[in-house]
Amino acid sequence: MIISAATDYRAAAQSRLPPFLFHYIDGGAYAEHTLRHNVSDLSEIALRQRVLKDMSALDLRTELFGEKLSLPIALAPVGLTGMFARRGEVQAARAATSRGIPFTLSTVSVCPIEEVAPAISRPMWFQLYVLKDRGFMRNALERAQAAGVTTLVFTVDMPTPGARYRDAHSGMSGPNAPLRRMWQAATHPRWAWDVGLHGKPHDLGNVSAYVGKPTGLEDYIGWLGANFDPAISWKDLEWIREFWKGPMVIKGILDPDDARDAVRFGADGIVVSNHGGRQLDGVLSSARAMPAIADAVKGDIKILADSGIRTGLDVVRMLALGADAVLLGRAWIYALATAGEAGVAHLLDLIEKEMRVAMVLTSSRTIADIGPQSLVPRAQL
Ligand code: GLV
Repeated sequence: MIISAATDYRAAAQSRLPPFLFHYIDGGAYAEHTLRHNVSDLSEIALRQRVLKDMSALDLRTELFGEKLSLPIALAPVGLTGMFARRGEVQAARAATSRGIPFTLSTVSVCPIEEVAPAISRPMWFQLYVLKDRGFMRNALERAQAAGVTTLVFTVDMPTPGARYRDAHSGMSGPNAPLRRMWQAATHPRWAWDVGLHGKPHDLGNVSAYVGKPTGLEDYIGWLGANFDPAISWKDLEWIREFWKGPMVIKGILDPDDARDAVRFGADGIVVSNHGGRQLDGVLSSARAMPAIADAVKGDIKILADSGIRTGLDVVRMLALGADAVLLGRAWIYALATAGEAGVAHLLDLIEKEMRVAMVLTSSRTIADIGPQSLVPRAQL
């Protein structure tokens, strides 16, 4: 029985998934300090309880980039989602759509843009990296546009991939990785039957469609190493602007000066993010980075945040710190791996319920009511 979205779906996903997949999603870079602080810094933020204010009517809706959202949440882009559940991107996109929130498709998804977009009734968001192969980027943008994608989420904190030591231990990479992965799949029969056998093709759908031949896990690992571009600068984003006229969100901002640059560039939004602790270990958690960024740019640009958000209480905390909305990453993957589309929909129900309790007891009727006054002042702690 699920009693907590944060811990129970994670435990269920761990028992269901071959270890190389569980540790790929669960792990972070280097010693995973930032990964842990993302969660612990957020959970230590004290909500300010208020009572007797007639909180009978709550409104959790918000608007972002001209779209109406039933919750201030979008599903974050996660690579290889189709390895965690059968055609996982389609299942998750359906769950998000049924709950009235956007789904963001990763560049390195299993299901291609053309498979996911027609499966849902609301336009999806699409995430892109800056890659050395500009032809790929241009092609991906054209395909995203043709598929009706509304919002581009541009990931900028991966000019070089962070070292994820867990992947080498788990068999995701390292010596004899293909053999170890095969053994793990064979010893996790539910996954092997559902995803391994019936979830094919296990392509990188967006990449295969571009290179004209199937691409798999080894290509993914090769790609991460070879195709990221340390030369990336704001000029490259100007190049993107020529091809992308819709809303553009810059994901991977952790510093107020970069946030100001994003405003100057004319971005529609930023995501305060350390990539879920998967890039530079030792940087600030999103919760600690947020207040200074909100001070610098709140009101000039939409502020989204990810990294460490596992519960509805975390959503309220991040909004109180200054975010307009949040992205969920690992939380929905754990639910998807456990119970597919129904799991993600259930997770979103749990998160909404948790938010409602937090809003009633912090005396916040609407999303806009959640702010610094919803937190216990630092001086009092
Ligand atoms: C890709 O963006 C990853 O974090 O694995």
